[in-house]
Amino acid sequence: MQLVLLGPPGAGKGTQARMLQTRLGAPQIASGDLLRNAVRSRTALGVEAKRYMDKGALVPDALVLKHIEERLGQPDAAAGFILDGFPRTVEQAETLTAMLKGHDSRQLDKVIAIIVPDEEIVKRISGRRTCKNCGAMYHLIYDPPRNFNLCNSCNGELYQRDDDAEDTVRMRLDVYAAATRPLLEYYGRAGLLSQIDGIGRPEEIQQRIVEAIGDAGGASKAAAKDKPA
Ligand code: AP5
Repeated sequence: MQLVLLGPPGAGKGTQARMLQTRLGAPQIASGDLLRNAVRSRTALGVEAKRYMDKGALVPDALVLKHIEERLGQPDAAAGFILDGFPRTVEQAETLTAMLKGHDSRQLDKVIAIIVPDEEIVKRISGRRTCKNCGAMYHLIYDPPRNFNLCNSCNGELYQRDDDAEDTVRMRLDVYAAATRPLLEYYGRAGLLSQIDGIGRPEEIQQRIVEAIGDAGGASKAAAKDKPA
């Protein structure tokens, strides 16, 4: 399945993409994670990207597209993927269509937009904590770790993202409204979009996504299993 998850910052795209990986037999490809890895590795690209990420602004396409194209070309993405955080502009969506066409004439199967009101987003993001070691995600109130500041799975230290300060989150919401929300109309016109309510427990939201994906999810998992490694 070739799926895009859209939604404002903190809507739960990453949470849902991680849960969907096993069900769909397709990897999560998160542009934010790819950029944060580059920042951590202190590549020239990462250093440049950090200047934009810290402000809550979009990173220029030249930096983002290189990572996405490389990642989509890896073997585990050959039979499908769950894109999280990309595309974020109509221009990126058009580039994605061209990129996929160049990879064996592939195309998107579905775009799911997770809709969550701004005030809930600020609450979700301010409580988010991520494991430095394995990337597992927690929320101080909605999904707290068993031991304060330590990951349940690997005991790694939990941290708060640099761009999760309230002012930066508000800037990210403005950027979403101006640059990314137009994608709802764009993918709606293409007949690919389902909008789902992002309020509820993660498992309930997962169920709404699975229903919106419908038969395409099951069929593409079977195709992924049949594909030679
Ligand atoms: P990115 O990392 O993509 O951030 P984002 O889109 O702002 O999304 P988040 O990761 O903040 O939230 P999410 O929707 O994944 O929610 P999550 O599941 O974590 O991008 C960061 C920056 O990188 C951008 O600002 C930009 O600078 C740059 N960038 C990235 N992609 C780019 C691109 N394509 N072009 C240009 N620049 C780009 O959940 C949030 C919290 O809520 C967690 O604590 C979670 O536990 C909790 N939670 C999740 N679901 C629920 C629920 N149902 N109920 C209660 N709590 C929940």
